[in-house]
Amino acid sequence: MRILSGIQPSGKLHVGNYFGMMKPALELQEQGEAFLFIADYHALTTVNDPAALRTMVKDVALDFLAAGLDSDKTAFYRQSDVPEVQELSWLLSIVTPMGLLERCHSYKDKTAKGFVASHGLFAYPVLMAADILAVQSTVVPVGRDQKQHVEVTRDIATKFNNQYGEVFTIPEPSIRDSVAVVPGVDGQKMSKSYDNTLEIFGEPGVLKKRVMKIVTDCTPLEEPKDPESCNVFALYKLFASDEEAADLAARYRVAGFGYGTAKKELLAKINDHFAPMREKRAELEKNMDYVEEVLRKGAERARTETQKTLQAARKAVGLE
Ligand code: ADP
Ligand code: TRP
Repeated sequence: MRILSGIQPSGKLHVGNYFGMMKPALELQEQGEAFLFIADYHALTTVNDPAALRTMVKDVALDFLAAGLDSDKTAFYRQSDVPEVQELSWLLSIVTPMGLLERCHSYKDKTAKGFVASHGLFAYPVLMAADILAVQSTVVPVGRDQKQHVEVTRDIATKFNNQYGEVFTIPEPSIRDSVAVVPGVDGQKMSKSYDNTLEIFGEPGVLKKRVMKIVTDCTPLEEPKDPESCNVFALYKLFASDEEAADLAARYRVAGFGYGTAKKELLAKINDHFAPMREKRAELEKNMDYVEEVLRKGAERARTETQKTLQAARKAVGLE
C-alpha cells in the first residue's frame, strides 16, 4: 500500500486540525509506505503574501515533526521541491475535460468567498491529481471536502490510461468520516475562520483564557448537568481515556459540580497532551538545518518516484 496526502500550509494549528487531520495523517506512517507533503504550490492560489507563505510552510514542517512524524517512515516534503509535478500536471491537463473542473465545488466555494477566480484556482484539482499520481499512490486519506478531488484524479488517470496506455495507478480515496467535528470555544465547528480555536502551540496564557471562555449552558451549580450536551466535555473526551471520561461524566451528574472544574481539568489534559510536542517543537526550531534536511531527503524520495512516472507519461504521449 502506498499512501499519499498533502496539507495546505494555512496558519496556526488548532485542536480541530490535530484530531481531524494531523493525528490520522501520522497514524498512516504505521500502515504502509507513506508520502506526506506541504502543498505550497496549492497554497499560492489563496495566499499572496510571500513572507506569510514562508512562515506557514516552516510552521507546518515544525508542527508535524514535533507531533511525531517519523522521517524514516514517511517521505515528508515541500510540494515545490518536486517541480516535475508541474510538468506532469500539464500532461494531465491535456486529457482533463473542462466540464470536470467546472463541476468542482471548491472552485465555486473559494470564489464565492472572494478569492480571485484565477486559472490556478480553477486548475487546482489537476495539480492535485499530479501530486497523487506522481508517486503512484494507492490510497489517499483526505477529509470529506477533498473527496471530489480524488474522484477527479481517478477520472483523469483513467482517461489518460485509456488514451495513451497504462501509466497511472488508479488511487482510492480513504475518507476520514470517523473523526467527529471538534467544537470550538463558542460551540460551532472549531475553525480559524471563526476565531474560536484552541491553538496547540500557542501561548499557555492565551490557551487558559480561551478554555475558561468555552460556552456552557446556564444550569445552576446546585443542579446536575448533562455531559453529552457540553462543549467542555466534548473536548475533554478527545484527550481522556474511556475511564477518565466516564468519571468526569458521573461527576457532571451530581449536584454541586461546576463547569469551572471541568474547564480546569480540560486545560490540564490539553497541556499534558501537548507539552512534549511543545518542547520538541522549541528544540526543532533551534535546529532548522535538521528540519531542512528532513524535507530535502523527503523530496529526494518523492522526486525519484515522480521522475519515473513523468518519464513514462512523456514517452506515452510522444515527447520521448
Ligand atoms: P480551518 O477550518 O481552521 O480553516 P482547514 O479547513 O484548514 O481548517 O482544515 C485543515 C484540516 O483540518 C482539514 O483536513 C479539516 O478536515 C481538519 N479540521 C479543521 N477543523 C476541524 C474540526 N473542527 N474538527 C475536525 N477536523 C477539522
Ligand atoms: N487540497 C488539499 C487540501 O486543501 C491539499 C492537497 C493538495 C492534497 N494535494 C493533495 C491532499 C494530494 C491529498 C492529496 O486539504
